[in-house]
Amino acid sequence: MYSRITTIDRHILDQQRRFPSATGELTSLLYDMALAAKIIARETTRAGLAGILGSTETSNTYGEQQQKLDVFADQVIFRMNDHTERLCAMASEEHEDLLEIPAHYGTGKYVLLYDPLDGSTNIDVNVSIGTIFAIHRKVSTGGRGTLQDVLQPASHLVAAGYVIYGSSTMMVYSTGQGVHGFTLDPSMGEFLLSHEDIRIPEPPKFFSANLGYEHVWSEGIRRYTRWLQGLGEPPRSPLGQRYIGSMVSDFHRNLLQGGVFYYPADAAGSRQYGKLRLMFEAQAFAYLAYHAGGACSDGLGPILDIQPHHLHQRVPVFVGNRDLVARAEDFIHRYDDEWMAVYRPYRERQPDL
Ligand code: AHG
Ligand code: MN
Ligand code: MN
Repeated sequence: MYSRITTIDRHILDQQRRFPSATGELTSLLYDMALAAKIIARETTRAGLAGILGSTETSNTYGEQQQKLDVFADQVIFRMNDHTERLCAMASEEHEDLLEIPAHYGTGKYVLLYDPLDGSTNIDVNVSIGTIFAIHRKVSTGGRGTLQDVLQPASHLVAAGYVIYGSSTMMVYSTGQGVHGFTLDPSMGEFLLSHEDIRIPEPPKFFSANLGYEHVWSEGIRRYTRWLQGLGEPPRSPLGQRYIGSMVSDFHRNLLQGGVFYYPADAAGSRQYGKLRLMFEAQAFAYLAYHAGGACSDGLGPILDIQPHHLHQRVPVFVGNRDLVARAEDFIHRYDDEWMAVYRPYRERQPDL
């Protein structure tokens, strides 16, 4: 027998009822993201069969090769949302500029940021991938959205979430009242509440980082890593190490089992500002971590408070267990003055609006 079944639709609606002034637009927007997730999930699970694996000819804004499913997922999300009159603009990791709402459709009071497929290098090897989304409220005064609506700090988000396409498909979201997870029942096509009010558990179990980059890491990051391994000062018991290479999956594991994920900047070399994207990856996870009792930092301070200056801004990321994130900041402040001097002006740059 089933104890209690809550679909994602009902859950989103119940949350909305707590705000008598809510108009239901955000609720509908989240429904639409759940529907887009089902369509993308259907394609990702059929990817091998449908013969759509492999790279397209094009590359994205970062010069990285796009996989066909990236393009597909990007279009599904755009088309799901371009005509609903809930958004004034969108922005996607796969597009250099702001995505305008087509002129023949009306606009609304939100702006949607998304990474259509995160971890796309894992597609061809059947490893979990995801979709990340974040929603800001429109702040500009004109009818159509502008960069000003997008370039807001994560502390202003009204909702954020992700979908993980793994051994099952899950959608995890927050509107600022807890973080909730839903598992897709493919036979019914419904997301059912499976993880209510998720809190990052204590004690932490894992650390997740690409240790292959240790040769380009700063002294602080190397010492931090040793410390997580139980080899540093102050003494601590060693954590297990897990790294998938899809931030969605690495974050998801630490959210459910406890731990820290980090993708630091290089001390020298090509990634002195980090690799991950502030607007399409880090903001959503900063918001979710915070609402699950965790933290997210760029090594200098909370990512929630960073005023973005560019749509495709990069950021070093330390996210998960609050104490482990604080400890990363500690090591960086103690050992990485030189790197901080390079990174700080980038972090503090103001948007040119
Ligand atoms: P995307 O597939 O959207 O470009 O993002 C991949 C990101 C992130 O998901 C992951 O944590 C990281 O890149 C992995 O990078 P490395 O392969 O350098 O470890
Ligand atoms: Mn990504
Ligand atoms: Mn991507």
